Amino acid sequence: MTDIHSHALPFVDDGSESKEDSVAMLKEEEAQGVKNVILTPHYRPPFLKEKAELSDRFEEFKAFAKEKGVEANLFLGQEIYVTDETLPLLKEDRLLTVNGTKYVLAEFSATHRSDVTEAVYALTLEGYIPIVAHIERYSYLTVADAKEIKSLGGLIQVNAASVMAKPRTEYRKRVKKLVKAGLVDFVASDVHFVRKNYMKEAYGYIKRKFGEETAEKLFVSNAKKLTE
Ligand SMILES: [Fe+2]
Repeated sequence: MTDIHSHALPFVDDGSESKEDSVAMLKEEEAQGVKNVILTPHYRPPFLKEKAELSDRFEEFKAFAKEKGVEANLFLGQEIYVTDETLPLLKEDRLLTVNGTKYVLAEFSATHRSDVTEAVYALTLEGYIPIVAHIERYSYLTVADAKEIKSLGGLIQVNAASVMAKPRTEYRKRVKKLVKAGLVDFVASDVHFVRKNYMKEAYGYIKRKFGEETAEKLFVSNAKKLTE
């Protein structure tokens, strides 16, 4: 599997407070069956590290992880909380897309209605391909909104924990509706050191409910565009 959303880069957000914890997170990813991990630190207050610093820290950590026996392939991205400043910052090359591609992992408010479709449209106009992070958390979005996001050229990610009804059953309900409608592109861990990794369980669940072909797309093949 490829995990396109994780907080395993240490010291840069609320994901991991030590290099050892980060290595443990990556070894757990391997145990879950994940071979490629995209590290996507938050870009939202108070976590506002930019591309240059994150790239340096990534290279340093990658060397450390290898030394400690991590075999998974590591890539760098950023989970960007979208505001009016996002596009200018991307254009100034100050934020990270996913692994240097045109894909942008985009986060929105879970508590306040935000115009996700408008933001997706604005990003695609500039040539970016936004991936809406854990869409099941945005209770104000309908299946029709998700369809609109897709028709505008955006992509959709859900969390493995949500597939397993963690922390809320309503998350799973939304995930199932969206997968059934063929609107989900990726399942990812969004793992933090203090949160359990559900990639393997979620793969099994999606395979049982929707078939192996769907599971392969959501956990394996769709992500190839981001890492190859
Ligand atoms: Fe995240």
